[in-house]
Amino acid sequence: MNGVDVYVLRLGHRAERDKRISTHVALTARAFGAKGIFFDVFDRNLFESVEDVVSRWGGDFFIRHIHSWRSLVKNFEGKTVHLTMYGMPLTEKMEELKKCERILVTVGAEKVPPEIYEISDYNISIGTQPHSEVAALAVFLDRILNGEVFRKEFENARTRIIPSNRGKKIC
Ligand SMILES: C[S@@+](CC[C@H](N)C(=O)[O-])C[C@H]1O[C@@H](n2cnc3c(N)ncnc32)[C@H](O)[C@@H]1O
Repeated sequence: MNGVDVYVLRLGHRAERDKRISTHVALTARAFGAKGIFFDVFDRNLFESVEDVVSRWGGDFFIRHIHSWRSLVKNFEGKTVHLTMYGMPLTEKMEELKKCERILVTVGAEKVPPEIYEISDYNISIGTQPHSEVAALAVFLDRILNGEVFRKEFENARTRIIPSNRGKKIC
């Protein structure tokens, strides 16, 4: 069992352009074991589609709009991590991070405000090449939560998959 509670902050969602990738960030956060996700921008369609997944596929993952990402990061009770290709390799900070009880991990959309580099406790990279917030978040959660994605049970699910080698089995 792993004792770290991880929360995600999605910084800078642009409703017209980022709906699909922000949805993927939220669903990846949920599937890989984060407790919930904060957005600094409210997008009703996005929020409803994530809440719809939670109601069908179970669990108590939350999606929440916050008015000030600064105050969320500054007042978070736990350690704050900003994922950026300019940061320290996750592998070098893993042992330290795994000792935390609560982590707030921030992923950007296009360009993040420079202040996030200053106020986060850690700037962490998943490799030093540009890629995607979805990939970065997935690797971070998988490593920090020790593969929770493969074990996690979602309570009160209306749909569950029965794993099979061929076809689609659900109950
Ligand atoms: C499409 S990237 C934005 C890149 C943008 N050009 C910039 O300079 O911030 C969106 C987000 O993905 C995450 N990301 C992308 N590559 C990463 C990497 N190698 N390590 C950690 N996070 C990464 C960061 O959180 C980033 O804010």
